Amino acid sequence: MLSRRNFLTAAVGVAAATGLAACAKEDGTSAAAAGSGSGSKAITLGFSQVGSESGWRTANSDSVKSAAKEAGYTLKFSDAQQKQENQISAIRNYIAQKVDVIAFSPVVVTGWDAVLKEAKAAKIPVVLTDRSVETSDDSLYVTLVGSDFTDEGRRAAKILEKVLEKAGHKGAVKIAQLEGTTGAAPAIERAKGFKEVMEADHADDWKVVVSQTGDFTRAGGKQVMAAFLQSNPDINVLFAHNDDMAIGAIQSIEAAGKKPGKDILIVSIDGVKDGFVAMSEGKINAIVECNPLLGPQLMEVVKKVKDGETVERWIKTKESDFMQDQAKDALPTRKY
Ligand code: AHR
Repeated sequence: MLSRRNFLTAAVGVAAATGLAACAKEDGTSAAAAGSGSGSKAITLGFSQVGSESGWRTANSDSVKSAAKEAGYTLKFSDAQQKQENQISAIRNYIAQKVDVIAFSPVVVTGWDAVLKEAKAAKIPVVLTDRSVETSDDSLYVTLVGSDFTDEGRRAAKILEKVLEKAGHKGAVKIAQLEGTTGAAPAIERAKGFKEVMEADHADDWKVVVSQTGDFTRAGGKQVMAAFLQSNPDINVLFAHNDDMAIGAIQSIEAAGKKPGKDILIVSIDGVKDGFVAMSEGKINAIVECNPLLGPQLMEVVKKVKDGETVERWIKTKESDFMQDQAKDALPTRKY
């Protein structure tokens, strides 16, 4: 298994296949015609997106599309609707079309070896974006451009300490956790980071009393939180792996006659505009940012990979944390 903590610099010894494909089978977006054309117009990038499950994902897709256009690349973009089999067939299509580079944000961490070996055999370099995979062979992808999800989980636990202090909370902390998509890197790693801090510093007073996936969607967050409130009406904290699930959960908390942000303190991850709106209304107490605007960095990396340059094994995203009292000031300048 490849660790996301692996900072090894990888030499990219992959000679990229050339030749533009005639057309994309899925949602093919030709960016080349409108691009700057600054020497990179020959690059064809096949990108397989997870889906459109959240505000974060919409911002991420927009960022990839506009950065590809800006760079003058031909982008072949497909939305996998959160299904691994759709991503595998999109990648196989990109291999058949002989794109220069394949990038994808894997819906789950396991099950990629076979298709990645096919890309390697076709000499098409693969760049992971946003989420990592577990592979048997380090050489099956070149680099990951994305966040440190374990650290986001740790930061969520640390900011919860501040939230509890600010609320003057005394006594047991009974936490409900809304997990992301089962088997996805952000779900696994955020839970891990949060647990790490909880076990090290709060073994006596904090407990995750209930934890289930809401699949990173609003509908999932709403439905699962309603069930949580039925089975555990004494929950006093919600840790949601993304803002959309927190926003869905808020609806169920209000429907149960409780005040989100007061009766149930809420910490979530992402920092999308709707999350900031909920925070400025006092319904979310703190947000750990996860930046979706990965497009420009991805295009730079793709160019380097295509040119056979050396890139870092993991190109990390810079992020901040926000408490509720910062929400109103920060909201007008949020970019997503
Ligand atoms: O992989 C990033 C996660 O996926 C975001 O936190 C979530 O909102 C998205 O769906």
